[in-house]
Amino acid sequence: MNTSTLLRAERGDITTLAVEAIVNAANSSLLGGGGVDGAIHRAAGPDLLHECRLLGGCKTGEAKLTRGYRLPARFIVHTVGPVWRGGEQGELALLVSCYRRSLELARAAGATSIAFPSISTGIYGYPIEQAAPIAVQTVRAALRDDDPIREVVFCCFSAADLGVYERLLAGMTRQ
Ligand code: AR6
Repeated sequence: MNTSTLLRAERGDITTLAVEAIVNAANSSLLGGGGVDGAIHRAAGPDLLHECRLLGGCKTGEAKLTRGYRLPARFIVHTVGPVWRGGEQGELALLVSCYRRSLELARAAGATSIAFPSISTGIYGYPIEQAAPIAVQTVRAALRDDDPIREVVFCCFSAADLGVYERLLAGMTRQ
């Protein structure tokens, strides 16, 4: 368990963040879509789609890395979250895997900071009250002692989502 990496939540557009890696909540085609995926492709520019075409898609719960192109971030980790189907179709394990695999790829690429959107909680319908604790707990547990990743940002699009993450992060520091 790592206690020195800073975990924080911030409200904003993930495409503008000055971190070394941002995570995209993609679909298995990796060829773009709506939500944060659409925003990332628009902001990164068409070279991102060209690189994504070479990746051969991505399974749910897995992740793949590209360059960041026109983004401030050097890298984009594309991960495919589960579609919410009521919670008994393996959604939790798949969401955990998204966070773990994304951190692994960012670490392997040498990123020292990473920002996550709230994976699966938009178009894919995962309830934020259930997804946010999984996000925070999985990241905290996956960080190693003296992890090269020094900062993890949970980038929230709405004030309500930010409130959920801030409560979780505050609770964690009191433990
Ligand atoms: N910055 C940060 N967060 C954002 C942004 C942004 N620019 N835009 C949206 N969000 P979603 P999913 C938030 O729907 O549920 C796409 O079509 C949003 O408010 O982007 O994993 C893909 O291609 C929500 O909190 O992703 C897939 O088909 C969170 O990002 C599908 O949607 C995730 O919402 C993936 O659905």
